Amino acid sequence: MRMVDLIARKRDGGELTTGEINDFIRGYTAEDIPDYQAAALLMAIYLRGMTRRETVDLTLAMAHSGDTLDLHDVAPCIVDKHSSGGVGDKTSLAVLPLVAAVGVPVGKMSGRGLGSSGGTLDKMESFDGWSSALSLEQFKRQLREIGLVLAGQTSVLAPADGKLYALRDVTATVDNRSLIAASIMSKKLAAGADAIVLDVKTGSGAFMPTVEAAEDLARLMVEIGQDAGRRVVALISDMNQPLGHAVGNALEVREAIDTLRGGGPEDFWDHCRVVAGHMVLLAGKAGSLEEAEALITAARADGRGLAKFRELVVAQGGDGRQVDDPDRLPQARYIEPIEATRSGYVTAMDTSELGWVCVHCGGGRLVKTDEVNPAVGFLLTIKIGDYIEAGQPVGEIYADDDMTLQQAQRDIPAAITVAAEPSPPRPLFYATIYGRERH
Ligand code: URA
Repeated sequence: MRMVDLIARKRDGGELTTGEINDFIRGYTAEDIPDYQAAALLMAIYLRGMTRRETVDLTLAMAHSGDTLDLHDVAPCIVDKHSSGGVGDKTSLAVLPLVAAVGVPVGKMSGRGLGSSGGTLDKMESFDGWSSALSLEQFKRQLREIGLVLAGQTSVLAPADGKLYALRDVTATVDNRSLIAASIMSKKLAAGADAIVLDVKTGSGAFMPTVEAAEDLARLMVEIGQDAGRRVVALISDMNQPLGHAVGNALEVREAIDTLRGGGPEDFWDHCRVVAGHMVLLAGKAGSLEEAEALITAARADGRGLAKFRELVVAQGGDGRQVDDPDRLPQARYIEPIEATRSGYVTAMDTSELGWVCVHCGGGRLVKTDEVNPAVGFLLTIKIGDYIEAGQPVGEIYADDDMTLQQAQRDIPAAITVAAEPSPPRPLFYATIYGRERH
């Protein structure tokens, strides 16, 4: 195989064979294919698309680029969830411990920030010493011992996704249906979960801008999962404004801890309860979504969810005292209010732009090698539908230098549309996509 031929064929709108896709993934994982050729192929795929067959081939090649886990010696049913990415989306941080706390083992492989969207691993690394690099042995042992594990792509599990994910992040090749489906489902298949809840975001801060595009992606991923023998449900959820209030790694960790303690923003808790409920239902621990949500609500109310989160932090080398006292999490040097520049109703937000504000403050990566600053980001306490007055504080910016602070003070209000007439509040969910047989 000559990479240049594959790039040229895709550039011209042709199809890649199964063998070529396998060779590409094998060669890129082994570092025989350089980043510049992989980046060119990604861009050609981004512009020309992939057929369903090519997408399935890519997913399977990526899933088998390292080891695949069989977790049935640990538990008969392991659940997992995955979000297609969003701004302020710290759902996993609250949902996973709650689900584990009701007795459903959760083994999850997560990603890092991508484009303007945050990543669970970057958020968890706000804890001093916390690591997502686990051997297969460690993954299984932790799952057996505490029923909850959160790993990153390593050289062992789906390594091709780890490499391609980082490359896509800095080559403007993220928001493509085939690349997203292959990235998410390869991780899910490699990590060995039996039941998977997919949280597919749509809106101004999501990779899929419309409900139709999100449903299309969701259906493709549900089918790929089912073909591989997994039980899969996809929820189409709103990302036309940040989820909750916090955007930025340590700030989001704090908000997740508040939520596990019974507080936190209402929209975030409502979202978490539904996602967690579907995981419990899919695992067969409840007879209906209502019953599953009631189990989750109880695990939050009596502190089991928070205790499980602390166990997760400590089991992977983190400092549990930062869970007990979030003031010990990394702190930004400057905390300044964000003020509304106009009076009126909030009718829309450029959520992706809000995500980029956090990246530009240092909370994400502009190039692959960038170090993420966990302390920076912002809190935005208004929602679409709210009335605001000019000069009213609508949140706070957390920055480590003067320049990014001033830039954020300009960019955040500019990303919020205010009008004389209200627009209706956004729903949290638009649709649920079940597999061929409803579970
Ligand atoms: N999440 C992933 O894991 N991969 C993507 O490509 C997008 C979101």
